[in-house]
Amino acid sequence: MSRLFNFSAGPGALPLPVLEQAAAELVDFRGAGMSLLEMSHRGAIYDAVHRECVADLRALLGASEDHALIFMGGGGRTQFALVPTNLRPTGSATYADTGSWSSGAISEARKLGAAHTAWSSAESGYDRVPGPGELAVPPDAAYLHYTSNNTIYGTQYQYVPESGTVPLVCDMSSDILSRPVDVARYGLIYAGAQKNLGPAGVTLVVIRRDLLERSRAELPQMWSYKAVAAKDSMLNTPPVYAIYMVGLVAKHLLAQGGAAGIATLNERKAARIYAVIDGSAFWRGHAQPSSRSLMNVTFRSPSAELDARFVKEANAAGLVGLKGHASVGGLRASLYNSVPDAAAVALAEFMTQFERRAG
Ligand SMILES: Cc1ncc(COP(=O)(O)O)c(C=O)c1O
Repeated sequence: MSRLFNFSAGPGALPLPVLEQAAAELVDFRGAGMSLLEMSHRGAIYDAVHRECVADLRALLGASEDHALIFMGGGGRTQFALVPTNLRPTGSATYADTGSWSSGAISEARKLGAAHTAWSSAESGYDRVPGPGELAVPPDAAYLHYTSNNTIYGTQYQYVPESGTVPLVCDMSSDILSRPVDVARYGLIYAGAQKNLGPAGVTLVVIRRDLLERSRAELPQMWSYKAVAAKDSMLNTPPVYAIYMVGLVAKHLLAQGGAAGIATLNERKAARIYAVIDGSAFWRGHAQPSSRSLMNVTFRSPSAELDARFVKEANAAGLVGLKGHASVGGLRASLYNSVPDAAAVALAEFMTQFERRAG
């Protein structure tokens, strides 16, 4: 099989060694005589897989025991509702609106209570995130919510916003573990797995343990961070296979030097594409340079026709997943952790050649 260079925004590329290990272990899990997919999640074999995954993620994140790591279902979008449900029993929460995912989180929060938008780049087509000091957070806010990487628009915070004593909540769905993170600064982090952590089907929630006390006893159990954390994410049957795969990806990341090691690789990959964009009058980037994402590079050629031709020719050359999101148009190269440097090299070269042919 010749593997394509996969620039999909998500589900995204997975490391080949992880896929190969998962394939080898699928039918007979490590000599158990059955597949992991067929086993009770209460048994010793799955239990070890689950605990090792949590321990490896904790090591990668550098998270102390002050934070609980839990696995939930329902993707990032479910967290849009669960965060206010749990953390804002009363009062108002504050949000930064940097794109479709943040505004989706705001609209879900507003269905359930009060949410205040402290900052928005909607008017400039979500081409940037706020600079340090631009986000004003009322001291009595239940939390400040922001989206560290805006998958659709290709912008990313290059710093951690200051929120004083107000708990900081971050949707890291599209850049978790792509660079080191100071978990101690966060009240809650959530991320759907399907971009940087593994397959779709599981969402990682990292929550400061004191905030678990905000989950009211009358909440339905499966909506309550406190109830799920109390049962080590096994309140219901967890998505065992997705968690197993996240565990394999975590081991792969650890072997590459953890978040710091992968950050160096991610910087190199993104720099290759931004260098082509900056070195040419043909390509234009969507994001303002100070807000550029290392995960999703958004760009366009001089016309929608040329963008479409680019996607078609790139597909034929084995470079797939480059069409921009419908709300921005143009092109998008997602360079998640598992996208190899060779893919970025190939894309940069293909962009340069395309410009020569079409420019
Ligand atoms: C930043 C961000 N948040 C949330 C979501 C929604 O995630 P899910 O599809 O897991 O609900 C996405 C999906 O792409 C995303 O990129």
